Amino acid sequence: MWAIAAADFGADLDLVELPEPEAGPNELKVRVLAASVNPFDRKVVNGMLRDSAPHQFPLVPGTDGAGVVEGSGERIFGTFFRRPVGGGTYAEYVTVPAGNPLAPLPDDMDPAVAAALPTAGMAALQLVESLGDSRSVLVVGAFGGVGSFAVQIARAAGKRVIPIGRGDSLVEADALIDLVSTDRSSFEANARYAPLAFNTNYVSADSAQNFGMKGSREALVHLSSLVQAGDLEVPISRRVPLRDAVDVFAGHGPGKTVIIM
Ligand SMILES: NC(=O)c1ccc[n+]([C@@H]2O[C@H](COP(=O)([O-])OP(=O)(O)OC[C@H]3O[C@@H](n4cnc5c(N)ncnc54)[C@H](OP(=O)(O)O)[C@@H]3O)[C@@H](O)[C@H]2O)c1
Repeated sequence: MWAIAAADFGADLDLVELPEPEAGPNELKVRVLAASVNPFDRKVVNGMLRDSAPHQFPLVPGTDGAGVVEGSGERIFGTFFRRPVGGGTYAEYVTVPAGNPLAPLPDDMDPAVAAALPTAGMAALQLVESLGDSRSVLVVGAFGGVGSFAVQIARAAGKRVIPIGRGDSLVEADALIDLVSTDRSSFEANARYAPLAFNTNYVSADSAQNFGMKGSREALVHLSSLVQAGDLEVPISRRVPLRDAVDVFAGHGPGKTVIIM
């Protein structure tokens, strides 16, 4: 099968031919139709998990996907993350632990749309839930994957949303979702604008402010039903064929990048 992979931590991505993976006990073998690109994928290639999980090389990144289960023909989407890390979704086939957050891919849903949903959509849903009855929220990094979903979900919940992109000034609000700070002082500077604040990069000294997404089948079903009802737009800025996907970490503009197999 063809895949996009890094030969080592920190290496550039290459198009490579690899043996198809074989499903072990309690695993599904999935023919991938589409995979979305998340910042987490780049962090994994750069070695973020090197001390906490076994890896295989060449390291195929990619957590989120939509595809067809070999054998049953069931169409699914969700979080296909597995250990050892490195058999990811930037590939024609992946094996997925059956207990992962997975949900049916509706027949009339574009696999690219479904693949764009899991990590960013579930994070956005849970971040907005964490805001409680806050009436206004600043979203810093509002035009990326998580931000573009969080803005829509918060507005649908009746909140006044102040989307913050590069160069925008912050204003005071009831709550803050900071999707961009990668150091404590940046986050603390932003958090001065709101009494309730969350970051997604684990930079706060206060663990209650460090958001960690918990995936679930229910959240995926909820997201796909929002999309089908026309209540959630999935902004896909780039659709890249697998053979051209070696540059997917180079930046993508607003919304999501999706690799099409
Ligand atoms: N903890 C968790 O459970 C969890 C879950 C999901 C995501 N995350 C993390 O959350 C972060 C955001 O994820 P994402 O998928 O939304 O990433 P993304 O799609 O790359 O979006 C980030 C957005 O922030 C913008 N941005 C960068 N620096 C900025 C600045 N100084 N001011 C305003 N906007 C800025 C980017 O603009 P440009 O395109 O111009 O750079 C981009 O639009 C990542 O670090 C990701 O790893 C964590």
